[in-house]
Amino acid sequence: MAASEDLEDLPGVGPATAEKLTENGFDSYQGIAVASPGELSNTADIGESSASDIIQAAREAADIGGFESGAQVLERREQIGKLTWGVDEIDELLGGGVETQSITEVYGEFGAGKSQVTHQLSVNVQLPAEHGGLEGSAIFIDSEDTFRPERIEQMVKGLDDEVIADAMVLHKVAQEDEADATNEDLVDDLVESILDKIHVAKAFNSNHQILLAEKAQELASEGQDEEFPVRLLSVDSLTAHFRAEYVGRGELADRQQKLNKHLHDLMRVGDLNNTAVIVTNQVSANPDSFFGDPTQPIGGNILGHTSTFRLYLRKSKGDKRIVRLVDAPNLPDGEGVMRVEEGGLMPE
Ligand SMILES: Nc1ncnc2c1ncn2[C@@H]1O[C@H](COP(=O)(O)OP(=O)(O)O)[C@@H](O)[C@H]1O
Ligand SMILES: [Mg+2]
Repeated sequence: MAASEDLEDLPGVGPATAEKLTENGFDSYQGIAVASPGELSNTADIGESSASDIIQAAREAADIGGFESGAQVLERREQIGKLTWGVDEIDELLGGGVETQSITEVYGEFGAGKSQVTHQLSVNVQLPAEHGGLEGSAIFIDSEDTFRPERIEQMVKGLDDEVIADAMVLHKVAQEDEADATNEDLVDDLVESILDKIHVAKAFNSNHQILLAEKAQELASEGQDEEFPVRLLSVDSLTAHFRAEYVGRGELADRQQKLNKHLHDLMRVGDLNNTAVIVTNQVSANPDSFFGDPTQPIGGNILGHTSTFRLYLRKSKGDKRIVRLVDAPNLPDGEGVMRVEEGGLMPE
């Protein structure tokens, strides 16, 4: 919570209510702003109408749901960056790469390569712009204990020599005239610099994951004026904890509400910091109905003005993977092929 955010500044919130709210994870204006009156009323033992007043005040304070001019929207959209997959065919499918200020969902079966994608993008985001990077750093919210630094190392080493050399200069591990992809010491330094710029946090349960998204917002906004501002936020997996914890039929609405709040938080990180947000979602071969119609974007229209890309990843022969773009705004549906190799994602 930002220092300026004192919950007791909200109307009708005294010390006891503030404590109850904080204990239950409603510790920021932003979190309260996207809560429902029923949820808040139960949490803090207050009437629903008081809860509504509190939510309204938090919304105003957090500036959620406000209007902006067309010119402001245009200015923000002009900042949108495109992050390369390192595979031309997939970049083309995406209209240039993974967009900042958007949520991109990668879904598919176990082993399809979703975590490979989040690892590769965490490397690529740190590359020079001329090689499709965003010259930024990455946040990785890891809910399945999947993050592997060794895999990052392999992927850095799997980059083209020219890309490695230019990245060495960008990361200041070598001057321009000494950057050299065949120099093992320099490559090791580059690997270290890249690992340093991936902020990894394990999410132990869904509430913790929600909290980490709020922390991600702080981390991203703090570093915007520094070198390597946060340009990628990965959540791998978005849904695993929510699925495991909210199993009963009666819990579906609660689960969806929590997930909606979480997505809203992620969307704000993307919007406010010009960051790409990538989330993974495991589905069975026969897509279940967790999100209703599997061709519809997750979270439905709560995502508001933030465009959402959905990519369906599936295994093909050997190391080949098919990437299918489903239901993207302003882009035709289509498919691309890539390989998952030791050196990372590669063209067919
Ligand atoms: N070092 C590697 N070299 C080659 N392929 C790898 C390597 N590591 C992982 N893979 C490939 O990625 C697959 C695992 O993908 P992963 O991203 O973990 O799947 P998901 O997250 O969709 O469940 C493995 O089955 C393998 O095909
Ligand atoms: Mg995975």
